Order: sequence, then structure tokens, then C-alpha cells
Amino acid sequence: MKINDIYEVNIIDDNHNGCGIAKINGIPIFIFGTLLGDKVKIRITYVNKKYAIGEVLSYIKCTSHEEVKCPYYGICGGCDLLHVSFDKENKLKRKYISKLFNGFDINISFHNRFGYRNKIVLHVKDGKTCFYKKESNDIVTIKRCLLVSDKMNELIDSLNELNLCFVTEIVIKEGIDGILLSIYGKISSGDLESIISNKYVKSIYQNDTLIYGNLYITQSFNNIKYLVNNNSFFQVNNECALDLYEYIKSLVGNTNDLLDLYCGTGSIGIYLSDVCKSVFGVERNSDSVLCARENMKINNINNYEIILGDASEISKKFDVIVVDPPREGLSKTVINNLNNMKAQKIIYVSCNPSTLKRDILLLDNYNLQSIRAFNMFPATKHIECVVLLERKD
Ligand SMILES: C[S@@+](CC[C@H](N)C(=O)[O-])C[C@H]1O[C@@H](n2cnc3c(N)ncnc32)[C@H](O)[C@@H]1O
Repeated sequence: MKINDIYEVNIIDDNHNGCGIAKINGIPIFIFGTLLGDKVKIRITYVNKKYAIGEVLSYIKCTSHEEVKCPYYGICGGCDLLHVSFDKENKLKRKYISKLFNGFDINISFHNRFGYRNKIVLHVKDGKTCFYKKESNDIVTIKRCLLVSDKMNELIDSLNELNLCFVTEIVIKEGIDGILLSIYGKISSGDLESIISNKYVKSIYQNDTLIYGNLYITQSFNNIKYLVNNNSFFQVNNECALDLYEYIKSLVGNTNDLLDLYCGTGSIGIYLSDVCKSVFGVERNSDSVLCARENMKINNINNYEIILGDASEISKKFDVIVVDPPREGLSKTVINNLNNMKAQKIIYVSCNPSTLKRDILLLDNYNLQSIRAFNMFPATKHIECVVLLERKD
């Protein structure tokens, strides 16, 4: 098999990346946009010794594909599963996690498939708003995104009416009290006035300096309010994050002291503060720490202390440890520390199942008790997991 070869193939399996799988001479070929049961004519675009990638030239037999409602689908790197029904998407993600963890039985939580994102990062090229293309640093101009609210889409529409030729990136975050924009590059005062005239815009940062409105916008879960600023982390899907936090609370039970490692704006620790005697948070992003301290004040939380620092600096003992690292997972030092700390429970929250699996195998003073998946990023290949580990005695 070589690049540019043309084949007609039957799709014999499919996966959570949005690819159907065919086989030629025992070599799997991954073909984006196909599903189990399809028959397609393909061109080979990549080959190595273990697998190949093909692109669809035409569909000979098309099974139960979902109607794709986005004009950028297949080009834009954002979504991977719009041709798949939501039900099937959840089954594929569940199957993937279960297989990765050797058949462990898992449940998956999910909410709305569209309009769920409270944050979007727009690259700006030649004055137009863009996303990265699939598996590439090239970009595609986009004017709407199914994953954000109508309010955010209206704002994106209006941004494309302006002269953004000297802007490189715009990050938009939406809270319950309005929208925060972070603009990178230069923008004229006339265009700035035009953005300010959008009634939802409450806050504008330019090159990380506040130039209009409030320092923060607000997110809210149940009765808890969370302030978020331009550089602080917040989960992108509020409904799913609330489920996640409730689930973590059910795993923690009542406890003495809890470590909230990689705590961002303190959101998990604050949510758990009523079931803990004390919470200690560690976060290396100073904007997030600033928000976390404000969040403690506005929610009257008195048993949570947070430090600005690196996760690897912590080696003191805690009863329960929640870790929620970025996609790269835990460093070797953090793993060693966690093994030595011998907490009763570690609750590992992860947005990257591969590094989660790698790290769990290294946390050899703990037994894996349960895994739950959360479809925090519907329509994309990404998935959040929560794992409960208990100390080996
Ligand atoms: C996935 S976020 C989780 C935030 C928070 N737990 C939440 O639910 O909103 C990961 C956080 O870890 C922080 N972080 C990344 N590397 C770190 C490190 N080495 N030490 C401390 N914090 C780190 C990031 O700034 C980010 O806020």
C-alpha cells in the first residue's frame, strides 16, 4: 500500500476520533467521516508499518450518518464527531475509555451537545476570525461555531465587521453576567467603541491589560459564584463541570484535610469545602490564584488556604488529594511525592486519558477503584475522566 493508492473498502469498526476503520492485507486504515457499515472509495494519504490513513473520495454505502450542521466540518480542527449521532458519540467514548482501562466498566455523563462552551479562542488572520485546521497549524476562517452560545456567535459576527488587521488572537469568555474579551494585538478606538456597544460585553483586556469594564466575569454553580479573569482557568462546560464536581464530592465523603492540587480558581476546593475541615490549594498561575482568593471571599469560605506555587513543591500528608493537571499529566516528582504522601484517597481528574493511564500505573502505592467519564467536550474527540485511587495497606 502506498500514498495516493485508491481502494474501495468496507468499514468494519469506528472510533471516538470520528474515524471508521477498514483493513487491507491486515493493515488498519483510519478514514475520517465514516462509520461502521459504510462502503467508501478512498485515497491513501499516509502509510507506515502499522497503519494507514485514507480520505473519502465517495460514499458507496452510507449508514446512519447524522446530518452535519456546520459548514467547516472536516476542515476545522474543532469537531470530530458531527457525522455521528450524540448517542453513538457517547457510546464510542465510553468504549474507548473502557478498552484503555482493560475492560473496566464505566459510566458516562453528558449534557447538551451544542452551545455548551463558555470560552472560545479565535485566531485572527488578515482581519478575519479563524480556527486551526485539523491536525495542522494552518487556519480556516470561521464566522460561527455550534459549540458556543448565540450571544457569542453574534459577537463573532460583529467582530468580522471590524478592521482586525493588526489583531492576532481574541479569546471570548461568557459568564452569567456578560462577556469578557481578551484581544491580542492592536485595535482602533473606533472598533473598540463598536465592541463596547455590544450590551453583553462587560470586560475587555488588550495584551493582558484591562482596558474596559470589570476585572472579572462570574460563573455560577448552584449557590456558588466563581469570578474568572482573562488568564485564569475555568472548566469550559458549566453543566458538565457541575456534574463532575458533585461526583467528586460523592467520592470524597466527609474528610479532615483535602489537597486541591492544580486548583485553578479554587473551583473544586470551594465546592468541597463544606465536606472538609480544611482545604489546601496549589496553583502556579497568578491570575487564577487572584480569582481563587476573591472566590473564597465572595462565597464566605474560611477553611480554604491557597498558595501560588508548583505542584511538585507539595509533599505534606493529606487525607484526600484531588489532582486536576493539564493535558500533560503529572510530573515524575509529583508522582513520587503522591506515592510517599500515602493519602487515603486520590481523586484524579483528567482531560487526557493517555496521560491518566500512564500516571495511574506509576502511582503504585494506590489501587484503582473506579473510573467515570464525563463528556465535557461534546462533538469533539476529547473526554474528561475521574478516577478514584485508594491507598494500598
Ligand atoms: C485542568 S486545570 C484545573 C483547574 C481546576 N481544578 C478547575 O477545575 O477549574 C489545570 C490547572 O493547573 C495549573 N497548573 C499547570 N501546571 C501546574 C503546576 N506544575 N503546578 C501548579 N499548577 C499547575 C494550570 O494553571 C491550571 O489552572
